[in-house]
Amino acid sequence: MSTTPQDDAKRAAGEQAARLADNGMRLGLGTGSTTAYALQALGRRVVEEGLQIEGVPTSFAAERLARQVGLPLTTLDQDTHLHLAFDGADEVDPHLHLTKGRGAAQAREKVVAAQADRFVVLADDSKLVERLGTRMPLPVEVLPMAVGPVRDALERAGGRVDLRMGQRKDGPVITDQGLWVLDVHFEGGIVDPEGLNAHLNALPGVLDHGLFIGLAHQVIIGEIGGGVRMLQRA
Ligand code: 5RP
Repeated sequence: MSTTPQDDAKRAAGEQAARLADNGMRLGLGTGSTTAYALQALGRRVVEEGLQIEGVPTSFAAERLARQVGLPLTTLDQDTHLHLAFDGADEVDPHLHLTKGRGAAQAREKVVAAQADRFVVLADDSKLVERLGTRMPLPVEVLPMAVGPVRDALERAGGRVDLRMGQRKDGPVITDQGLWVLDVHFEGGIVDPEGLNAHLNALPGVLDHGLFIGLAHQVIIGEIGGGVRMLQRA
């Protein structure tokens, strides 16, 4: 199967992440095409090396892939502690603040990332931005009955708001929680990510959103050609 240079970069990041796992670790398993390479590489380590790990998936998609590649699964109810979580991102800024949620999995992704001793982000160069919100809109997951008030509040905060629509389904995208997603475009990007994070966290009707402030400890950047480089939080 032919792959693009960007696929090779994603694979390099994913395979590097899988090397961080050790016997006995409880892992957070992220969602998306980059993390999928990590899950596949972990599955190979389980088969070939007898690696003993347990994973908490961040979405139905991650859960299904983890089962397909033979990763033992667990929950945060069983044990709230995770040694390591890895996940993709849509944007990474110079402070290692992130936007996530292209796959609408940001709520579970944030719960899992927050429980981990180390949250490692997997990306390629296309995800690096000077300012969040310039490459992708910001996803905000809302109760369907709160769409109107939350849309108004987001517009007052300077955003242009689109309800995310299904692709091969009529009507809105329904998240793994049964909620809807508003994609918020900020002209020129998000000027004050910490302030917007606090504002969104306090909005009634919002379950969660795609701003990940101060959560990432490290970013593995996969490079075209198969190399990797690391960015560490200062
Ligand atoms: C899903 C996410 C993904 O991790 C993010 O969109 C990156 O995905 P990909 O690795 O496919 O570019 O946040 O909600």
